[in-house]
Amino acid sequence: MRLILLGAPGSGKGTQAALLAEELAIPAISTGEMLRQAVAAGTPLGERIEKVMSSGDLVDDAILGEVVKTRLAREDAKGGFILDGYPRTLAQADQLAEILVGMEAEQDGVLYLQVPEPELVKRILGRQRADDKEDVIRQRLLVYRRQTQPLVDYYEQRGLLMPIDGDRPVDEVAAALLEALGRMVEA
Ligand code: AP5
Repeated sequence: MRLILLGAPGSGKGTQAALLAEELAIPAISTGEMLRQAVAAGTPLGERIEKVMSSGDLVDDAILGEVVKTRLAREDAKGGFILDGYPRTLAQADQLAEILVGMEAEQDGVLYLQVPEPELVKRILGRQRADDKEDVIRQRLLVYRRQTQPLVDYYEQRGLLMPIDGDRPVDEVAAALLEALGRMVEA
Protein backbone atom coordinates (compact mmCIF):
# COMPACT_ATOMS: atom_id res chain seq x y z
CA MET A 1 0.00 0.00 0.00
CA ARG A 2 1.19 3.52 -0.79
CA LEU A 3 -0.38 5.79 1.76
CA ILE A 4 -0.25 9.42 2.83
CA LEU A 5 -0.98 10.59 6.35
CA LEU A 6 -2.34 14.12 6.20
CA GLY A 7 -3.08 16.30 9.21
CA ALA A 8 -2.10 19.38 11.17
CA PRO A 9 0.97 19.54 13.42
CA GLY A 10 0.17 17.46 16.50
CA SER A 11 -2.66 15.51 14.86
CA GLY A 12 -0.84 12.24 15.48
CA LYS A 13 0.70 11.54 12.07
CA GLY A 14 4.01 10.33 13.50
CA THR A 15 2.35 8.22 16.20
CA GLN A 16 -0.06 6.55 13.79
CA ALA A 17 2.50 6.16 10.99
CA ALA A 18 4.68 4.07 13.32
CA LEU A 19 1.75 1.84 14.33
CA LEU A 20 0.56 1.39 10.74
CA ALA A 21 4.08 0.64 9.54
CA GLU A 22 4.32 -2.22 12.01
CA GLU A 23 0.85 -3.53 11.18
CA LEU A 24 1.33 -3.37 7.39
CA ALA A 25 5.08 -4.18 7.35
CA ILE A 26 5.93 -1.16 5.19
CA PRO A 27 8.20 1.78 6.09
CA ALA A 28 6.90 4.99 7.65
CA ILE A 29 8.68 7.89 5.97
CA SER A 30 8.65 11.16 7.92
CA THR A 31 10.02 14.18 6.06
CA GLY A 32 10.22 16.07 9.38
CA GLU A 33 12.46 13.32 10.76
CA MET A 34 14.64 13.26 7.65
CA LEU A 35 15.04 17.03 7.79
CA ARG A 36 15.94 16.87 11.51
CA GLN A 37 18.63 14.31 10.59
CA ALA A 38 20.00 16.69 7.95
CA VAL A 39 20.11 19.43 10.60
CA ALA A 40 21.89 17.13 13.06
CA ALA A 41 24.52 16.35 10.40
CA GLY A 42 25.52 20.04 10.59
CA THR A 43 26.07 20.50 6.84
CA PRO A 44 25.59 23.97 5.26
CA LEU A 45 22.28 22.71 3.86
CA GLY A 46 21.35 21.47 7.35
CA GLU A 47 22.04 24.92 8.76
CA ARG A 48 19.73 26.51 6.20
CA ILE A 49 17.03 23.96 6.91
CA GLU A 50 17.31 24.55 10.66
CA LYS A 51 16.59 28.26 10.25
CA VAL A 52 13.38 27.49 8.35
CA MET A 53 12.22 24.74 10.72
CA SER A 54 12.82 26.77 13.85
CA SER A 55 10.65 29.57 12.44
CA GLY A 56 7.72 27.23 11.76
CA ASP A 57 7.82 27.76 7.99
CA LEU A 58 8.11 25.10 5.31
CA VAL A 59 11.37 23.96 3.78
CA ASP A 60 11.70 24.58 0.03
CA ASP A 61 9.61 22.28 -2.21
CA ALA A 62 12.63 21.49 -4.43
CA ILE A 63 14.64 20.17 -1.47
CA LEU A 64 11.70 18.01 -0.40
CA GLY A 65 11.30 16.65 -3.92
CA GLU A 66 14.91 15.43 -3.93
CA VAL A 67 14.71 14.02 -0.40
CA VAL A 68 11.49 12.08 -1.07
CA LYS A 69 12.49 10.84 -4.52
CA THR A 70 15.75 9.45 -3.15
CA ARG A 71 14.02 7.83 -0.17
CA LEU A 72 11.25 6.21 -2.25
CA ALA A 73 13.86 4.72 -4.58
CA ARG A 74 15.23 2.58 -1.75
CA GLU A 75 14.51 -1.13 -1.79
CA ASP A 76 12.33 -1.18 1.34
CA ALA A 77 9.81 1.22 -0.23
CA LYS A 78 9.21 -0.99 -3.27
CA GLY A 79 6.38 -2.87 -1.58
CA GLY A 80 4.68 0.25 -0.26
CA PHE A 81 5.14 3.08 2.25
CA ILE A 82 3.41 5.54 4.53
CA LEU A 83 4.32 9.18 3.98
CA ASP A 84 4.12 11.28 7.15
CA GLY A 85 4.35 15.04 6.64
CA TYR A 86 4.63 14.99 2.85
CA PRO A 87 3.13 16.31 0.65
CA ARG A 88 2.43 19.59 2.43
CA THR A 89 1.82 21.99 -0.44
CA LEU A 90 -0.07 21.66 -3.73
CA ALA A 91 3.29 21.84 -5.53
CA GLN A 92 4.53 18.88 -3.45
CA ALA A 93 1.36 16.92 -4.24
CA ASP A 94 2.03 17.38 -7.97
CA GLN A 95 5.70 16.55 -7.34
CA LEU A 96 4.73 13.28 -5.62
CA ALA A 97 2.38 12.37 -8.46
CA GLU A 98 5.31 12.80 -10.86
CA ILE A 99 7.69 10.76 -8.68
CA LEU A 100 5.13 7.95 -8.62
CA VAL A 101 4.67 8.05 -12.40
CA GLY A 102 8.47 7.60 -12.62
CA MET A 103 8.15 4.57 -10.34
CA GLU A 104 5.19 3.23 -12.36
CA ALA A 105 3.22 3.26 -9.12
CA GLU A 106 0.02 4.85 -7.84
CA GLN A 107 -1.01 6.20 -4.47
CA ASP A 108 -3.72 4.15 -2.82
CA GLY A 109 -5.18 6.55 -0.30
CA VAL A 110 -4.82 9.58 1.93
CA LEU A 111 -5.65 9.17 5.61
CA TYR A 112 -6.68 12.57 6.94
CA LEU A 113 -6.46 12.97 10.73
CA GLN A 114 -8.89 15.61 12.04
CA VAL A 115 -8.19 17.14 15.45
CA PRO A 116 -9.49 20.49 16.83
CA GLU A 117 -6.86 23.23 17.18
CA PRO A 118 -6.91 23.60 21.01
CA GLU A 119 -6.14 19.87 21.30
CA LEU A 120 -3.29 20.20 18.76
CA VAL A 121 -1.68 22.98 20.79
CA LYS A 122 -2.11 21.03 24.04
CA ARG A 123 -0.47 17.94 22.55
CA ILE A 124 2.48 19.79 21.04
CA LEU A 125 3.12 21.80 24.20
CA GLY A 126 3.23 18.49 26.07
CA ARG A 127 6.26 17.55 23.99
CA GLN A 128 9.71 19.13 23.98
CA ARG A 129 10.96 19.31 20.43
CA ALA A 130 13.03 22.35 19.35
CA ASP A 131 10.11 23.73 17.27
CA ASP A 132 7.50 23.14 19.99
CA LYS A 133 7.55 26.67 21.44
CA GLU A 134 4.20 28.47 21.53
CA ASP A 135 4.99 31.20 18.94
CA VAL A 136 6.51 28.63 16.56
CA ILE A 137 3.47 26.35 17.02
CA ARG A 138 1.13 29.24 16.07
CA GLN A 139 3.20 29.80 12.91
CA ARG A 140 3.20 26.07 12.06
CA LEU A 141 -0.59 26.01 12.41
CA LEU A 142 -0.97 29.13 10.26
CA VAL A 143 1.27 27.64 7.58
CA TYR A 144 -0.74 24.41 7.78
CA ARG A 145 -4.03 26.26 7.23
CA ARG A 146 -2.66 28.27 4.31
CA GLN A 147 -0.46 25.79 2.51
CA THR A 148 -1.45 22.25 3.54
CA GLN A 149 -5.22 22.45 4.11
CA PRO A 150 -5.85 22.89 0.33
CA LEU A 151 -4.61 19.31 -0.08
CA VAL A 152 -7.84 18.10 1.54
CA ASP A 153 -9.84 19.27 -1.49
CA TYR A 154 -7.07 18.16 -3.86
CA TYR A 155 -7.23 14.56 -2.68
CA GLU A 156 -11.00 14.56 -2.18
CA GLN A 157 -11.45 15.54 -5.82
CA ARG A 158 -9.26 12.59 -6.77
CA GLY A 159 -11.35 10.19 -4.67
CA LEU A 160 -8.41 9.37 -2.39
CA LEU A 161 -9.35 11.13 0.88
CA MET A 162 -10.29 9.13 3.99
CA PRO A 163 -11.17 11.50 6.88
CA ILE A 164 -10.60 10.05 10.35
CA ASP A 165 -11.57 11.55 13.73
CA GLY A 166 -8.15 11.86 15.39
CA ASP A 167 -9.48 13.41 18.60
CA ARG A 168 -9.65 10.21 20.64
CA PRO A 169 -7.21 7.81 22.29
CA VAL A 170 -4.29 6.53 20.19
CA ASP A 171 -5.57 2.93 20.01
CA GLU A 172 -9.04 4.05 18.86
CA VAL A 173 -7.53 6.21 16.12
CA ALA A 174 -5.31 3.29 15.05
CA ALA A 175 -8.34 0.97 14.85
CA ALA A 176 -10.28 3.56 12.81
CA LEU A 177 -7.38 3.88 10.36
CA LEU A 178 -7.22 0.13 9.83
CA GLU A 179 -10.99 0.00 9.37
CA ALA A 180 -10.81 2.74 6.73
CA LEU A 181 -8.03 0.87 4.94
CA GLY A 182 -10.13 -2.30 5.05
CA ARG A 183 -13.02 -0.44 3.38
CA MET A 184 -10.60 0.99 0.80
CA VAL A 185 -9.31 -2.48 -0.12
CA GLU A 186 -12.85 -3.89 -0.45
CA ALA A 187 -14.09 -0.99 -2.63
P1 AP5 B 1 7.05 17.45 11.16
O1 AP5 B 1 8.07 16.74 11.91
O2 AP5 B 1 6.34 16.74 10.05
O3 AP5 B 1 6.05 18.04 12.21
P2 AP5 B 1 4.48 18.39 12.16
O4 AP5 B 1 3.74 18.14 10.90
O5 AP5 B 1 4.41 19.78 12.68
O6 AP5 B 1 3.89 17.32 13.03
P3 AP5 B 1 4.26 16.90 14.51
O7 AP5 B 1 5.45 16.01 14.50
O8 AP5 B 1 4.27 18.09 15.41
O9 AP5 B 1 2.93 16.14 14.85
P4 AP5 B 1 2.33 14.76 14.33
O10 AP5 B 1 1.08 15.01 13.54
O11 AP5 B 1 3.38 13.88 13.72
O12 AP5 B 1 1.88 14.19 15.71
P5 AP5 B 1 2.67 13.23 16.73
O13 AP5 B 1 2.34 11.82 16.45
O14 AP5 B 1 4.10 13.64 16.79
O15 AP5 B 1 7.67 18.79 10.51
C1 AP5 B 1 8.46 19.68 11.25
C2 AP5 B 1 8.97 20.79 10.34
O16 AP5 B 1 9.78 20.21 9.29
C3 AP5 B 1 7.91 21.59 9.61
O17 AP5 B 1 7.39 22.65 10.41
C4 AP5 B 1 8.69 22.09 8.39
O18 AP5 B 1 9.50 23.19 8.71
C5 AP5 B 1 9.57 20.90 8.06
N1 AP5 B 1 8.95 19.96 7.10
C6 AP5 B 1 8.59 18.66 7.32
N2 AP5 B 1 8.02 18.14 6.22
C7 AP5 B 1 8.02 19.11 5.29
C8 AP5 B 1 7.52 19.18 3.96
N3 AP5 B 1 6.92 18.14 3.36
N4 AP5 B 1 7.67 20.35 3.28
C9 AP5 B 1 8.29 21.40 3.85
N5 AP5 B 1 8.76 21.42 5.12
C10 AP5 B 1 8.62 20.28 5.82
O19 AP5 B 1 1.91 13.63 18.08
C11 AP5 B 1 2.09 14.88 18.69
C12 AP5 B 1 2.00 14.67 20.23
O20 AP5 B 1 0.71 14.24 20.57
C13 AP5 B 1 2.97 13.58 20.75
O21 AP5 B 1 3.43 13.95 22.00
C14 AP5 B 1 2.07 12.33 20.84
O22 AP5 B 1 2.48 11.44 21.83
C15 AP5 B 1 0.72 12.95 21.16
N6 AP5 B 1 -0.42 12.19 20.60
C16 AP5 B 1 -0.46 11.57 19.39
N7 AP5 B 1 -1.68 11.02 19.21
C17 AP5 B 1 -2.42 11.31 20.32
C18 AP5 B 1 -3.77 11.01 20.71
N8 AP5 B 1 -4.60 10.30 19.93
N9 AP5 B 1 -4.19 11.47 21.91
C19 AP5 B 1 -3.37 12.21 22.71
N10 AP5 B 1 -2.07 12.50 22.42
C20 AP5 B 1 -1.61 12.06 21.21
